Amino acid sequence: MTGATSPGDRLSITDSRTGTVYELPIQDGTIRAADLRQIKTGAGDFGLMTYDPAFQNTASCRSQITFVDGDNGVLRYRGYPIEELAAKRSFLEVCYLLLQGELPTADQEAQWVDEITHHTFIHEGIRKFIDGFHHDAHPMGMLVSVVGALSTFYPEAKDIHNPETRHKQIVRLIAKMPTIAAFLYRHAAGLYYAYPDNDLRYTGNFLNMMWKGTELKYKPDPVLERALDVLLVIHADHEQNCSTSTMRLVGSSQADPYSSMAAACAALYGPLHGGANEQVLRMLTAIGQVSNVPDYIRRVKAGEFRLMGFGHRVYKNVDPRSRLIQKVAEEVFEVTGPSPLLDIAREIERIALEDEYFIGHRLYPNVDFYSGIIYLAMGIPVEMFPVLFAIGRTPGWLAQWEEGLSDSEQKIGRPRQVYTGPEPRHLPD
Ligand code: CMC
Repeated sequence: MTGATSPGDRLSITDSRTGTVYELPIQDGTIRAADLRQIKTGAGDFGLMTYDPAFQNTASCRSQITFVDGDNGVLRYRGYPIEELAAKRSFLEVCYLLLQGELPTADQEAQWVDEITHHTFIHEGIRKFIDGFHHDAHPMGMLVSVVGALSTFYPEAKDIHNPETRHKQIVRLIAKMPTIAAFLYRHAAGLYYAYPDNDLRYTGNFLNMMWKGTELKYKPDPVLERALDVLLVIHADHEQNCSTSTMRLVGSSQADPYSSMAAACAALYGPLHGGANEQVLRMLTAIGQVSNVPDYIRRVKAGEFRLMGFGHRVYKNVDPRSRLIQKVAEEVFEVTGPSPLLDIAREIERIALEDEYFIGHRLYPNVDFYSGIIYLAMGIPVEMFPVLFAIGRTPGWLAQWEEGLSDSEQKIGRPRQVYTGPEPRHLPD
């Protein structure tokens, strides 16, 4: 987000402690926090800092990747509106756009798709690693571990300053995430592993690895294949959210991309972030029927719990992704048949959008409100929802990680604190 500022704009600050006036340059709607350090009461003073728990008003980087205007419900990747990309481009084209800055030409796309397709297999050692998990291990817990374990299989990934090495790991991660995800599902279900089918498209192959049975060749439903493509596009990036900031922060220590992305997956696991779609489904199931919705809303307003899938740190009017998802839901239900949970979700939305509490708090359905219902209709178990989110977010994490590495202003991330602990004291003699 940028403010309307001109080159000569300044912020005048008068320090009431000393009466000194400071002129701080304003650039792109921001002042540099480091400029505040000159504001001191005396020579021994450290200088002023900002205090911003949860980074609610702090820009941690300059980025050319994703633009979000939360007040107006706008989301753009590299300048392109999410609505146009979701309607007209595939997930792999969007991956290329996020990573390279431009959409691929036909030749570039063919080469990119070929490269990804030929890295979909995972090392058999990874398969054995997955075998070691309990059958009821949560797939996100497994995902965090498996993505981290990849770094031990590709030690050259540590060479993060080499663009070719970086590219190789990026290709590997985008290509292998669906394979890992499907293997995690199959492991939990006690099913044999279905290996990648390189004749299929990215999402079709994922459906193949999830659902292939005894047939020689799995044929993905084109509507579901495309719906999944749109869902992945919608999730592909969302600027400096919790998991992306984690990716950048861990990456700033020059850790390899697998270790950084394992940390990003861990951040995504939380129920307030990528774990929310799973929580939405659990909530809808707990509500059980449409007639129970008003009482549930009453309890949310009484502060007993939050309405999962509602609210967003940035979007305060509409989450443009939730509009797109509703369209996908209609297409998917044409194929799978309607979901009874959809009626409950629509009733929640209807009541909440007319309710003073939700209007006053500017709480609207977010991307996770409907995505879980679609995944469930596709037959994907609830525990797998955040894993699907992670597949979609992979190119965003990687593009942001690379951008951070090539930004000459970045250093190892290291926030400050305001110490509120005991004054110096000593152990008794
Ligand atoms: N249900 C009920 N009340 C809510 C909700 C909700 N879902 N979200 C926020 N509020 C209330 C909150 O209680 C507080 O009220 P008050 O000011 O009276 O104390 C006020 O709204 C502001 O809440 P906040 O926690 O300061 O807002 P935030 O910007 O820090 O939180 C959020 C954003 C997404 C974490 C939050 O809205 C939430 O917990 N939503 C439910 C979880 C969810 O759906 N997460 C998915 C987010 S979108 C995908 C992603 O990012 O991964």
